[in-house]
Amino acid sequence: PVVARHYHENVIDHYENPRNVGSLDKNDPNVGTGLVGAPACGDVMKLQIRVDDDSGQIIDARFKTFGCGSAIASSSLATEWVRGKTMNEVLTIKNTEIAKHLSLPPVKLHCSMLAEDAIKAAVKDYMAKRAKANSLITKPN
Ligand code: FES
Ligand code: FES
Repeated sequence: PVVARHYHENVIDHYENPRNVGSLDKNDPNVGTGLVGAPACGDVMKLQIRVDDDSGQIIDARFKTFGCGSAIASSSLATEWVRGKTMNEVLTIKNTEIAKHLSLPPVKLHCSMLAEDAIKAAVKDYMAKRAKANSLITKPN
């Protein structure tokens, strides 16, 4: 069926042409960095988001993954899915959705989990930065 073949091609594309590989400045106050590892295999994923102050939406995302092809494809997909979303919205992205979209076999589920964890860690980092900046601003003296 045409649809199935198209779907398959899209997925292969994420393996062969990962999107948004690279880094954002981790010291930028609008950038959140998530660095996570998979205990099962030792693979590591860094995922970064840039958040727009006014809209609260993610306007850029980058990743670097030292890991298997499924982890790389999962992070590539994650950087596409987080764009245009708010913090609350990206926190609803589930690794099972990523795995389904990439047709990952069950044994590769933990690779997509790395992407979900990396998104959550990036959001946490961004929120912590914001909280710190706000407390500095409101501190008396
Ligand atoms: Fe890239 Fe669906 S395969 S968003
Ligand atoms: Fe561990 Fe894929 S085998 S992240």
